[in-house]
Amino acid sequence: MTPAFDVAIVGAGAAGLFCAGIAGQRGLRVLLLDHAPKMAEKIRISGGGRCNFTNRDLDPHQPQRHFLSQNPAFCRSALARYTPADFIALLQRHGVAWQEKHKGQLFCTRSAQDLIDLLLRECGAGGVTHWQPCRVLHVAYSDATHAEGAAALPYTLQTERGSVVCRSLVVASGGLPVPKIGASDWGLRLAQQFGLGLVEPRPALVPLTFEPQSWAPYAHLAGLALPVRINTGSKKQAMAFDEDLLFTHRGLSGPAGLQISSYWNPGQALRIDLHPQARLDAALQTAKAAGGRKLLPNALAQHLPQRLCDIWTQHRPDWQRPLSDCSDKALAQLAESLHHWAPSPSGDEGWAKAEVMRGGVDTRQLSSQSLESSQPGLYFIGEVVDVTGWLGGYNFQWAWASAHACALAL
Ligand code: FDA
Repeated sequence: MTPAFDVAIVGAGAAGLFCAGIAGQRGLRVLLLDHAPKMAEKIRISGGGRCNFTNRDLDPHQPQRHFLSQNPAFCRSALARYTPADFIALLQRHGVAWQEKHKGQLFCTRSAQDLIDLLLRECGAGGVTHWQPCRVLHVAYSDATHAEGAAALPYTLQTERGSVVCRSLVVASGGLPVPKIGASDWGLRLAQQFGLGLVEPRPALVPLTFEPQSWAPYAHLAGLALPVRINTGSKKQAMAFDEDLLFTHRGLSGPAGLQISSYWNPGQALRIDLHPQARLDAALQTAKAAGGRKLLPNALAQHLPQRLCDIWTQHRPDWQRPLSDCSDKALAQLAESLHHWAPSPSGDEGWAKAEVMRGGVDTRQLSSQSLESSQPGLYFIGEVVDVTGWLGGYNFQWAWASAHACALAL
């Protein structure tokens, strides 16, 4: 006889494992499937191996503030019903140690493996059947036209381990980043199979790149990081971050570069203040008035890394003089160029280097309460949905919260 389950969950990553554990503990017969040979690789590699699993700054009254979506209010219901405090309580019940770092980011103290073990224990407590690696070859839906039994179990999955039938199907197959550890477009294709719309998937939290010729002078700065204020320069969708910017051989990265990449669109210039702490024109004027004889790049190095000062000033003879010989205009222009740098990225490092996917299954066909789609019994949770969090634990919190909302509705 064909094995029967209340629910089949495809994707045993953050969202799938969490959903399976809760649904199983509610008494449902759960089958969890994943095609990857290694389990929960994204959790394992995240946060430098310690998994930044949530963020305490998530605002319970306006949880959508830290997320992007074409339907911005959609994520609110799930995030408000399962908060960072709820996940912290779960960690505490399992004795998993965690610590807070920069800007409310919470990490496992020891290793991301502690979190994977926790999720597997929760699945064990729910009696979840876990097939991994196992590919799903085909999904069919038959409505009430068949016998009573078939109507109650309308989904048939053909898998590498044979066919199964189930009442509900949960898609937790994640986004497109890092294909070499198991990412696939399966969930997006399944949505299309059932007539659901997609918001164009694009890499997000990804290093930005530049035309090699225009980037050549800055390539010498590779490895240098400094605190900046960065924004997209778009009036329509103004978004600014105060974070560290990292120069790379091909472009910009670090928290500032990654955060802004989620809001950047091709053709846009960025706006970057390389010294947001204070106005440089005033500081340089004061140093000049004090009779400074240092070369301008060296005087500037009181405020910014020397390597940056050297590269920044090298192409202008009037920025190569002793400070006291520089005109006020030259100083003002130098300060302006540093406070209002407007580089235009030509692209990004793509799916291999992105941390997350922007876009995905269009939320306008999903219930914000249950994550069920307009196709009865078909649910989408986690990153496959058009909800993208900021850097700093927000994407995992969306995985937990959407999985929780779905599991309670199954
Ligand atoms: P997830 O990707 O976790 O799981 C999807 C699962 O589905 C995978 O196991 C995959 O093998 C499986 N699958 C795919 N296609 C399938 C198919 N056809 N059949 C069967 N199974 C299939 N976020 C954060 O909040 N804090 C952080 O510190 C980080 N750090 C980080 C670092 C790096 C390098 C990356 C790439 C990403 C992050 N993220 C992050 C993002 C975070 O990892 C991501 O948002 C969540 O893992 C999403 O959880 P999901 O369960 O939706 O997908």
